[in-house]
Amino acid sequence: MNLRVLGIETSCDETAVALYDGQQGLLGHLVHSQIDLHREYGGVVPELASRDHIRKTLPLIQALLAQTGISAASISTVAYTAGPGLIGALLVGAAIGRSLAFAWGVPAIAIHHMEGHLLAPLMQEPRPDFPFIALLVSGGHTMLVRVEGVGRYEIIGDTLDDAAGEAFDKTAKLLGLDYPGGPALARLAEQGDVSRFQFPRPMTDRPGLDFSFSGLKTFALNTLQREGSDDQTRADIAAAFQRAVVDTFVIKCRRALEQTGIRQLVIAGGVSANQELRRGLEKLAHKIGGRLFYPPLEFCTDNGAMIAYAGYLRAHAGYREPLAFTGRPRWPLAELDAI
Ligand code: KG4
Ligand code: ZN
Repeated sequence: MNLRVLGIETSCDETAVALYDGQQGLLGHLVHSQIDLHREYGGVVPELASRDHIRKTLPLIQALLAQTGISAASISTVAYTAGPGLIGALLVGAAIGRSLAFAWGVPAIAIHHMEGHLLAPLMQEPRPDFPFIALLVSGGHTMLVRVEGVGRYEIIGDTLDDAAGEAFDKTAKLLGLDYPGGPALARLAEQGDVSRFQFPRPMTDRPGLDFSFSGLKTFALNTLQREGSDDQTRADIAAAFQRAVVDTFVIKCRRALEQTGIRQLVIAGGVSANQELRRGLEKLAHKIGGRLFYPPLEFCTDNGAMIAYAGYLRAHAGYREPLAFTGRPRWPLAELDAI
């Protein structure tokens, strides 16, 4: 039987839905961003996020069905993000996803948000074969993962403090940029002289694959206080910060590939939209005879397509789960069931 999966993503500040079909691939996807809602607070306000998901999720699903001309009766599985994320926001997607599945008489599958990011690069050609190394870099997570198959994840590197996206966002805030700061900092860095300041490459002088990014933000603050905050200095700090993050990832990814003997590297999650990071890792892949894979820009940041696709892969493998639902604000990726 052909599988057609509705995916629902509401873990943070995007309401996103998508339809993935086993034969035709991605049929359509829609994202409603809450950026305007949270901007004046300088970050995501969890309760406002949940309330907005309540308002937007069903109309977005209706718009998706209308746009794709797909009837609800042809949907065979509902996949929704069950964690990690903001518990109130997760509960909205879970309640709606479970209710629709119950009403339509089809199974519902709880998806791990980071598994969605991790599998997004497999949605289109060229796709990596298993095993590969994945660098997952989002607002809440920074991980190096050895991926043997769907649900077969070994975390080989993790962050001891801030996630990469969080470091971008916090540093952007210091530089007076609006939330969400990552893309704004990357734009500012284009105007900067990358050689004026030399930021540290944290944890690269010792063995291991873990990360620590909180020191970079402090380094940026100290530089700002010492050098002043004129436009050129802010741009130079942005460029130096970004270069330090990219270099750190290049060093650690190289180490991970060399240690495992694997030559395929995948990057995913919001920070994989960063052009400098892509360039740095492309160069590394070229140098060591490996290959880099990343999703199209629209599937780097939060989206429904990655959830529908992860749901499709799990449903296709016969994965089923009981009706009971648990929202998991914290959910270690390595605890997923292999399929
Ligand atoms: O994956 P994502 O959309 O949401 C989470 O799961 O967290 O990632 C969002 C993060 C934010 O921290 C945002 O600033 C960062 O990704 N980000 C970027 C860029 N685009 C998004 N960071 C650096 N450069 C970018 N171009
Ligand atoms: Zn995400």
